[in-house]
Amino acid sequence: MRRLPDGLILLSGGKEIPRNYDVNYVFRQHSNFLYLTGVEEPDCHLLLDPKRRTSTLFLPRIDEHHRVWEGHVPGPAEAKTLYGVPRVLYCDALPAEIKRARKGYRRAYADAASWKHSGSALKGLHKASLTLEDAIEELRTIKTPGELERMAEANRISGRAHELVMRQTRAGMREYEVQALFEAECLRSGQRHLAYPSIVAAGKNGAVLHYRRNDAKLKKGQLLLIDAGVEVRGYAADITRTFPVSSRFSPKQRDVYSVVLETQKACIDAARPGLNSAAWHVLSMRLIADGLRDMKLLRGSIDELVETGAVRLFYPHGIGHLLGLDVHDGLGGKRRKKPNPTKVPVRFVADLEPGMAVTVEPGVYFIDALLNSPRLRRKHRDQVDFTRAERFLDLGGVRIEDDIVVRPSGPPRNLTSVAKEIGDIEALRRGV
Ligand code: GLY
Ligand code: MN
Ligand code: MN
Repeated sequence: MRRLPDGLILLSGGKEIPRNYDVNYVFRQHSNFLYLTGVEEPDCHLLLDPKRRTSTLFLPRIDEHHRVWEGHVPGPAEAKTLYGVPRVLYCDALPAEIKRARKGYRRAYADAASWKHSGSALKGLHKASLTLEDAIEELRTIKTPGELERMAEANRISGRAHELVMRQTRAGMREYEVQALFEAECLRSGQRHLAYPSIVAAGKNGAVLHYRRNDAKLKKGQLLLIDAGVEVRGYAADITRTFPVSSRFSPKQRDVYSVVLETQKACIDAARPGLNSAAWHVLSMRLIADGLRDMKLLRGSIDELVETGAVRLFYPHGIGHLLGLDVHDGLGGKRRKKPNPTKVPVRFVADLEPGMAVTVEPGVYFIDALLNSPRLRRKHRDQVDFTRAERFLDLGGVRIEDDIVVRPSGPPRNLTSVAKEIGDIEALRRGV
């Protein structure tokens, strides 16, 4: 309300989406609505009147039929204490409430669904949907202690599930059995939603960045990459670990893993207030280029390897992204957007600030589509030893991903504590 004092603010929660006949998809509240209200039920609305400083939550009127099939849903009196909203009414009062509240306003900050739902009551007000979305995105970028508590809990549960997987995975299992181990541990901890579809990728599948089939058999000698996290009251954990299906890393796996691990640790340490996110990504590219040059996969100067994009053949994604109610949690809001100070294209360009939660997830992959592209082979023939790189195709990929929070000074707080040192992983794998 302080941010947008000159308009009526109206936000709609998510609606049930039918999957077929009378069965709905699993409901998950829209993140902006969850952010402002904490309400996890469908079909609600929020009306904020900045001039009169009032907030009103609107709930759907639940009939007996609904109670027969769905059981208890909080009514207005219960919702007041549950969600801490001073006024709670039923949705059928919304048009009249808007008409009363709109006096003295010329504009309405309402999301698209609210315009659709309350079009006639809002008629004549200037439409400013994007401004509302941007204002919420800007607020969501800096986490409160309460939000961080939930993110830390999502990390504790997901971390436990990752280490359980490291102890119990065996050659001969299918990727989906590993997924089942991970997800069962999350459900057992009382959580209902994963933060995103789990990626469980053995061997070559590790080189498919958003691999989802999760149905291949695990073989001795392969690496297993698992990128999975749970959400707690909407707040995501996004964690990746890569470990050997056998009890030890092979020398080749160890070399690649060490390049990624050293890069990840240096990038975590570098994540301080004021660091530009594009410069941060370039730092990760430089470290990976340096490591792959030591392994004789790349040759030439680090500057050139970064500027020509040669290193992107092995590392074709960013160092990380904002994290929160969404696993890719917006871009920080328009006011934070900065020109990119580097020559490398990146999605999110802003300076890191205290209270931002971001992932740190460098990786090295051996991707058939890139290493066997005639165009890229021509372009990078002096920089990449393609013959040598082909010998790594079976290794797939290594990614290591932690979730951190930028502090006012010094290194960030790391929310993720899952084994990632080679010795610690091999200790968990002992006896397989
Ligand atoms: N799990 C999706 C990502 O790492 O961005
Ligand atoms: Mn991520
Ligand atoms: Mn991830």
